[in-house]
Amino acid sequence: MFASHPSPPLSLYIHLPWCVRKCPYCDFNSHAAQSIPEADYVDALVADLEADLPLVWGRRLESIFLGGGTPSLFSPEAIDGLLSAIRARLTCRPGIEITMEANPGTVEQDRFRGYREAGVNRLSIGVQSFDDGLLQRLERIHTGDEAHRAVAAARAAGFDNLNLDLMFGLPGQSLAQALQDLDTALTLRPEHLSWYELTLEPNTRFATHPPPTLPDEDTQWDMQQAGDERLQAAGYAHYEVSAHALPGRECIHNLNYWHFGDYLGIGAGAHGKLTLPGEGRILRRWKQRQPQAFMDEARAGSAVAGERALTVADAAFEFMLNGLRLREGVAVEMFTAHTGLESGVLEPVRGRAVERGLLADLSDRLVATELGRRYLNDLVGMFLEG
Ligand SMILES: C[S@@+](CC[C@H](N)C(=O)[O-])C[C@H]1O[C@@H](n2cnc3c(N)ncnc32)[C@H](O)[C@@H]1O
Ligand code: SF4
Repeated sequence: MFASHPSPPLSLYIHLPWCVRKCPYCDFNSHAAQSIPEADYVDALVADLEADLPLVWGRRLESIFLGGGTPSLFSPEAIDGLLSAIRARLTCRPGIEITMEANPGTVEQDRFRGYREAGVNRLSIGVQSFDDGLLQRLERIHTGDEAHRAVAAARAAGFDNLNLDLMFGLPGQSLAQALQDLDTALTLRPEHLSWYELTLEPNTRFATHPPPTLPDEDTQWDMQQAGDERLQAAGYAHYEVSAHALPGRECIHNLNYWHFGDYLGIGAGAHGKLTLPGEGRILRRWKQRQPQAFMDEARAGSAVAGERALTVADAAFEFMLNGLRLREGVAVEMFTAHTGLESGVLEPVRGRAVERGLLADLSDRLVATELGRRYLNDLVGMFLEG
C-alpha cells in the first residue's frame, strides 16, 4: 500500500493545440488551422485551471511549460494574459522556469520580445534540421535560414536560455548530414539541445506511408552514438536519452517528469499527475482532446475526459520508466519520497536486472548500465512484468 507522503514538486503543462500545417510524422494533439480562437481558448484554459485548483491547494509551482502544437501562434498579449491569470491563482517559485515552444516559421523579433516581457524565460525552437532538402521531406513550414533567424531573434529579444530540437534518422539522411546539422546547431551555442531519433508513430502519415529512404537501424544507432559524442565534446552533458545541456541548464520542467514529480495539465488533451494530499494516492487525469469540445466543456465547468488512481504496480513501473531515462538514474530515496512505496517492492526485478547487466549494482541509486541504455525498453519492460 501507499504510505501518506509529502507531495513531490509541482509543475504546470499547458497545451496549445494548433499548427499552421500538420507534419506527417507528428502524433501530438495538434490541428492545422488558418486562424485560432485565441481569446476563447485562453478563457477556457483559465476555467480548466480553476477546476483543477482544489487538487493543489497551498502548493507552489516550480515550472510552467507551454507546449503544442505551436504555442508561438498565440500573440504575446494572449500569453501575457494567460500567465497573469496563472500567477493570480497559484504561487510561483521565484525565478520560475517558463518554457514556450516556438516554430521557426512563425516568429518575428517583436513577438519574441513580447513573450519575454510576459515572463517566458526559456524558448524551445523546433529546428529539426538546417538542411532545406530534409526540411521539405518533413514538410516543415520553415527553411534552414529561418531557423538561424529565429535563434538570432530570440537572442536579440533577451532569451538567455534556449533549447533547439533536432531530429536525426530523417528520410535520405546520411551520417555526415546528421552530424552537419549538429555542428551547425553548435555554432549557435544553445544552452540545451534535444537530439531526437525520428520515430514512426502509429496514426501518422509516415506510419501508413513510410518514406522509402529511411536510414536503417545500424545507421540510426551510429548517428545517435556519434551525435552524443560530438555534443559531449562540445561541453554538453548528456543527462537524458535525448537531452543535452550546458552545465546548470537542464530543463527543470522535464526533469520533474523524469523524477516522477507532480504536474497539472491544462488544455485540450493535456495529462496531469497529482499526489493527493493526506491520502498518498496518485491520480492521473486527462482532458477532452478536441479543441472545440475542450473549450465548451471547460467553460461549462469540467473538461476532464478521464481519471485513474495508480495501483502500487503502476506507480513502481512508471517511476522506473521515467527515472531510467536519466543518465544518472534516480536515488532509491526519491523512489520512496515520490511514490510513497518502500524500495523493497522493486525486488526481485532489480536483482534480475543487475544479474543481466542491465542495471548498475548500486544500493542507493537505480541506474541503467550502458547495455541497459541500449536495451532500455527491455529493462523497463522487466519492471512492468514484475
Ligand atoms: C510538440 S513538438 C513541438 C515543437 C513545434 N511544434 C515544432 O514542431 O516545431 C516537440 C518536438 O518533438 C519532436 N518530434 C515530434 N514528432 C517526432 C517523431 N515522430 N519522432 C521524433 N521526434 C519527434 C520534434 O523535434 C519536435 O520539435
Ligand atoms: S509543428 Fe510540431 S506539433 Fe505541429 S504538427 Fe508539426 S511537429 Fe506536430
